[in-house]
Amino acid sequence: MSPFRSGSPEGCTGARRTTEKMTRNPFSPINVGIDAVSIFVPHHYFSIEELAQIRNVNAEKFTVGLGCSKMAILGPTEDPVTMAAGAGRSLLDRSGIDPREIGMLVVGTESAVDESKPIAVYVHEMLGLSPRCRVMDLKNACYAGTAALRAAMAWAATPAAAGRKALVITTDVAYYDLASPGEPTQGAAAVALLVTQNPQLLIIDSQTEAIYTHEVMDFWRPTYRNSALVDGHFSLECYLESLRACYNMHKEMTGLSLADFRHVLFHTPFPKMAYKAHHRLFELEGGALALGMTEEDSFRWKVMPTLRAARELGNVYASSLFAALISLLEDGSLQVGQQIALFSYGSGSSSEFFTGRIGPAIASWNRNTGFSEQLTRRRRISYEEYLFYRAAYEQRNRDGYFVEDQPTEETPFLFLGIKKHKRQYAFLNPGRMEASASAAAAATEDAEQN
Ligand code: CAA
Repeated sequence: MSPFRSGSPEGCTGARRTTEKMTRNPFSPINVGIDAVSIFVPHHYFSIEELAQIRNVNAEKFTVGLGCSKMAILGPTEDPVTMAAGAGRSLLDRSGIDPREIGMLVVGTESAVDESKPIAVYVHEMLGLSPRCRVMDLKNACYAGTAALRAAMAWAATPAAAGRKALVITTDVAYYDLASPGEPTQGAAAVALLVTQNPQLLIIDSQTEAIYTHEVMDFWRPTYRNSALVDGHFSLECYLESLRACYNMHKEMTGLSLADFRHVLFHTPFPKMAYKAHHRLFELEGGALALGMTEEDSFRWKVMPTLRAARELGNVYASSLFAALISLLEDGSLQVGQQIALFSYGSGSSSEFFTGRIGPAIASWNRNTGFSEQLTRRRRISYEEYLFYRAAYEQRNRDGYFVEDQPTEETPFLFLGIKKHKRQYAFLNPGRMEASASAAAAATEDAEQN
């Protein structure tokens, strides 16, 4: 029976191995990692079953064969910048962090809105961060989030950080051609991670580097296209080969294997991919006889609780791995000291296998990330609206697109359009909670007046 049909982690009686085969302490000399997380979920979704009906495909191909359920769809005033700002604002508000404490902002994305100006600069303004804050975007397909996390961790461990914190934000729109094989895996979201010394949520092993880079054309998006191109079945092979290489490298360096991890979080372009990835690791470890549990139990226990975001949002590219972490937190069963493994894959390709240990504040994060509340506030859109929002997405990447709207507490960051080749945003000013135009918009008006 496919584990995609049913099952709960509680039903699994596999031995809970706490043994940690550390030949050295990988978390020394300075503990660095994730202190807080937050997610931004777009306000609309389209049903995968309805898509299957319209495409004249057996719905089980999408819901069981790929494991998908819904696709998060951007509204006409949402873009990768507003999603990133939304995730960042929610993180700062929920954790009570003063924006002046942020000394670095790294945005990991493959949905750039400009060939030169980083998303991070817009977000810096929208969140009211200090001018003494290093900002940058990092691009490396879906690996961009992990690259951003690693850059932030490296900075947070230096004396230059001087107690300040780094903010990592991943933001992406997965967008494929209509009726293409990738269409049912579309999605959108942003995730924010607060990266600090002595993190309370997840201490990440910063001493082991299990990385695999290999040039392949499995998935790419030329600068002249809104939608991605993909060699679908080849991309699955590339992903699994990178996983094998990284996992073996990590095992050789640490002595740790599948049995040692309470959970394994995979980059999840669609839920079935995580099933295939777990299957690959299970095989590498010699199967049920060697591991002392069935593959289904291992999957149900270690991986199933990480898949909610992938089912509910679709592929969220650079955010995918961290959305899996948020799913796991919402599952609510994590305990202090548990070890989890994470596999990050970016097409093209770059990948990394790494581990983390659950930190002391886990009790306050279990079932308390704000993700479930955002899911319940969404509105299901019709096929006509799906087509309209796609057309808006194409249009809003061109000069001349403009909507009149005002930010509210529900939608504090709005993308209004592109005027004279400058992106225009309206947002609630941090601290003052009143609507203001973005710096770019103000600069445009100044220039027009002079
Ligand atoms: N009931 C149940 N299952 C069914 C079914 C039915 N009626 N009909 C088909 N299926 C199953 C198939 O057996 C298959 O499962 P297995 O792979 O386990 O055999 C599954 O449904 C999908 O069927 P197909 O392989 O025929 O589907 P497809 O060729 O139309 O497209 C895809 C699948 C290639 C993954 C496509 O969705 C795609 O191109 N996706 C985008 C690329 C992607 O996500 N790649 C992932 C790796 S790269 C990466 O991770 C980076 C990234 O984020 C993009």
